[in-house]
Amino acid sequence: MSRELIGVIFGVTSPFEFKFLVSDTYTKKGDYVKVMQDSDWVLAQIASITISNDSFSLDATSQLASAKRLGNTGEKKIAKSTVIGSKDNRGQLIIPKMPFSPGSKVYLADSPLVRKTLGLASGEAYIGLLEGTDVPVKIDVNKLVQHHCSILAKTGSGKSYTSGVIIEELLERGVPLLIIDPHGEYSSLKQVNRNREDNLRMNKYGILPRSYDNCITYTPSNLSLNEVADEVFRIDGVNPSAKMLAQLIPTLNNSQRDVLYRSIKKVAPQKEFYTIADVIEEVGHDSSNSKWNVIDSLESLEATGVLSECPTEIEELLCKGGASIIDMRGVDPELQDIIVSKLCYEIWEARKIGKVPPGMIVIEEAHEFCPERGYKKTASSVIIRTIASEGRKFGLGLMVISQRPARVDKNVLSQCHTQIILKITNANDLRALSKGLEGMNAELEEEIKRLSPGVALFVSDDIERPIAVEVRPRKSSHGGESIKIVEENQKEEHKSLLATIFRRDEG
Ligand SMILES: Nc1ncnc2c1ncn2[C@@H]1O[C@H](COP(=O)(O)OP(=O)(O)OP(=O)(O)O)[C@@H](O)[C@H]1O
Ligand SMILES: [Mg+2]
Repeated sequence: MSRELIGVIFGVTSPFEFKFLVSDTYTKKGDYVKVMQDSDWVLAQIASITISNDSFSLDATSQLASAKRLGNTGEKKIAKSTVIGSKDNRGQLIIPKMPFSPGSKVYLADSPLVRKTLGLASGEAYIGLLEGTDVPVKIDVNKLVQHHCSILAKTGSGKSYTSGVIIEELLERGVPLLIIDPHGEYSSLKQVNRNREDNLRMNKYGILPRSYDNCITYTPSNLSLNEVADEVFRIDGVNPSAKMLAQLIPTLNNSQRDVLYRSIKKVAPQKEFYTIADVIEEVGHDSSNSKWNVIDSLESLEATGVLSECPTEIEELLCKGGASIIDMRGVDPELQDIIVSKLCYEIWEARKIGKVPPGMIVIEEAHEFCPERGYKKTASSVIIRTIASEGRKFGLGLMVISQRPARVDKNVLSQCHTQIILKITNANDLRALSKGLEGMNAELEEEIKRLSPGVALFVSDDIERPIAVEVRPRKSSHGGESIKIVEENQKEEHKSLLATIFRRDEG
């Protein structure tokens, strides 16, 4: 950004806002500007711009129009700016104590001043550019992971794309990741981004396409059913404890739980190794009528095939320098919940005793696993809430992603200290968001409704105010491409046409 003079302050000012007469044609809403006060540059942002022209007052315009003598003289461009402040020697943001003097010169703010004042100077993870500028936005990886992060937006607004960008940055810094991937979108991290539009934009962002080979995709079903999976994912099915089974079946009521606990207490001393089949048999001997529901639930769990004598080691799933992707495409939602619950419990316990390194769990479609109370009951809710409230102490972070903020557990969302918001229009979701978002006001709400595609609002304790970021292109391929219905239909039509021709020829 150049240090050009772009205007002069006029009228009544305050320490929080001022208006200036704009002297150039490029200045626009959202631009960062600076004014010298007490030998310090104070940063401000243009909140709105109006244009007026005395020659075109209502009266004058009607006269001019009737005279067919339209001209463009005396146009006045006025920018209303909101003061952000300046940083003192200790890095604290200072708001000026006195209003700005009319007549003060306004300059376009330079990149280092913007980064320093907004608190973007110390981060490492390169997310994109401050909207409308060439100022890189880099966020602090430690804080992002420790203090959790949420990505919220309506469907198709770029949540998975943005989370992909953050995951790339975390992988480049060796942060261990476990990705809960209900739609199988993240294995594409292993492929170079060859999207032409993305590739063309990379120059502007100063990045190059690449792939991330340190990712392993696990499937809870079979390798033959998931062509991108590297490994199967299995839960330890040997000697299952009553607590674990009860966690996996959250629908059991108290008397059904009693049956389960009683039966395992009987079966455990009888056998060195017992499985869920032995538990089912023992429950069958119970005298309580509640046993039928318990048998039913245990049989459903057994039928998923996810409990195994050869379980996936938890140390394998959260390990230094890589990501484990649990690809649950095509997996029954109840089983998905069981898997997420089990994984989160195991990682939490393992992290507490240092069996796995500090890292982050990424949860796509978080409203399915930690829903707001009243929406549904899930096995994973309790543990996700625990990690959200206590994970920081043990270096276990959460990234929760959802298209329905109103349906995600408020306790979880309120613990996410970095909030990344893309376009949201649903009134309920905006309301839910404003409850958990400090500094949310009508203006910000309007901004969220109008966010352009690929632009995210970042709100964080580290950043002095919410900032709009043009998210950088993905370096690796984005797996959640929207399917072009028209093109797909045409392809299908083309295929069936060919099939008809071949059938005719064969006949
Ligand atoms: N920053 C970006 N740069 C370029 N393209 C983007 C960006 N963000 C999103 N897109 C495009 O928008 C499409 C939808 O993005 P994405 O898959 O991330 O949406 P989503 O919010 O996760 O949707 P859903 O709720 O359906 O999961 C992508 O296919 C991608 O092409
Ligand atoms: Mg998505």
